[in-house]
Amino acid sequence: MDRLLVEGGARLKGEVSISGAKNCALPLIAASLLAGGKHCFTNVPQLRDIKTMLLLLTHMGAVCEQGGELQIDASDIHTLTAPYELVKTMRASVLVLGPMLARFRKARVSLPGGCAIGARPINLHLKALEQMGVAIALEHGYVVGEAKRLRGARITFDQVTVTGTENIMMAACLADGVTVLKNAAREPEVVALGDYLVRMGAHIEGAGSDEITITGVEELRPSSCEVIPDRIEAGTYLAAAAITGGSLRLKNLRQENIQAVSQKLCDAGVLLESGEGFVDVRANGRICSVNIETQPHPGFPTDMQAQFMALMTLGDGVSVIKERIFENRFMHVLELQRMGADIELDGRTAIVRGVEKLSGAPVMATDLRASASLVLAALAAEGTTVINRIYHLDRGYEAIEKKLSAVGARIERVSAKGE
Ligand code: EPZ
Repeated sequence: MDRLLVEGGARLKGEVSISGAKNCALPLIAASLLAGGKHCFTNVPQLRDIKTMLLLLTHMGAVCEQGGELQIDASDIHTLTAPYELVKTMRASVLVLGPMLARFRKARVSLPGGCAIGARPINLHLKALEQMGVAIALEHGYVVGEAKRLRGARITFDQVTVTGTENIMMAACLADGVTVLKNAAREPEVVALGDYLVRMGAHIEGAGSDEITITGVEELRPSSCEVIPDRIEAGTYLAAAAITGGSLRLKNLRQENIQAVSQKLCDAGVLLESGEGFVDVRANGRICSVNIETQPHPGFPTDMQAQFMALMTLGDGVSVIKERIFENRFMHVLELQRMGADIELDGRTAIVRGVEKLSGAPVMATDLRASASLVLAALAAEGTTVINRIYHLDRGYEAIEKKLSAVGARIERVSAKGE
């Protein structure tokens, strides 16, 4: 398994181009199942999770061609099963459930199973689909859904769910009648999916608000669109500049999608200036300790909690970090403590007391964003850090060591042969 070697202490300086968003590309790829013909997507990031989703669609019969742009032709879908071997490696595979039921009225999708950051059930997806007339059965670890016809329904999610909102939006596009989705997720990736579905001929209003109305149509047609910039990748590089005392220009991003993170970085004393399609970030002396509480968008994103915690380990005081979305998203804490961080856990709250310095150490990546947190800590630590199991990182960060090396980081990927 590959590992990353990081020699800490370099102040990052230069420009970073932000890639397309993983969590935007994944639902768009799933949406291509809704209509035969050729869909075209640009700015698709080269990531493991994208490859997994394309493997899944190919398994089902879609023709996927990835050149400068991604082309998907879902005309001849012959398999309506999403197998465990693929779904277990990526929970977002559950996004094929809605489109399959909408177009084929039948689907068999492996239950994703838990993951490092929590149980992450899909009960809310299933309850909403049942309200739309889908008969749901659980058989040998698979969700089997079947319906004569999907019908519009008035659905209120007990809890905000991003892929739940996306699944139901897609299912409702071809249902009979009107679906009103309340307590819907408001993430930019939900808006991007809604925009694409409208381009395919769907009738959707309110995407981006907590109430989305979808009026079913008879048929959809393929279209094309550009994947929006990755706001979590952008936030991660903002934090990288801050933690190393450096200054970066981030290009190809939408600052309106990183407001909550930008505000917290400003509160922590980091200087941010935005221009047309770019943001300049510059550290400005010691980091000030600030508190954060993760919330659904537009609140502080849970996907930035681990990275922000790394920054707070070097703060000038005490930072209280509350994780409100997932029940076990503190796997990075043990590893940060190995690097000298002073963190105390109390359930879903982490108390981070700033220390003068972190020291390099061998650490283990456990999940995607925890891995990013360890990279940030390593960039600032004294000495060398070896980050193991970085396949987690490759799921969501395109060419991270190349992008960081290009702005002065001393980081290299070591392929551990034979392990
Ligand atoms: C999406 O996951 C993202 N993934 C996650 O990003 C992100 O952390 C999460 O939203 C929250 O913002 C993609 O978009 C592909 P949820 P999702 O359904 O949709 C509970 C990353 O690092 N819940 O919004 O799976 C759930 O357990 C990944 O890029 C139920 O209980 O998350 C969690 O506590 C990690 N039942 C909360 O809701 C359900 O049926 C929010 O989960 C669904 C969710």
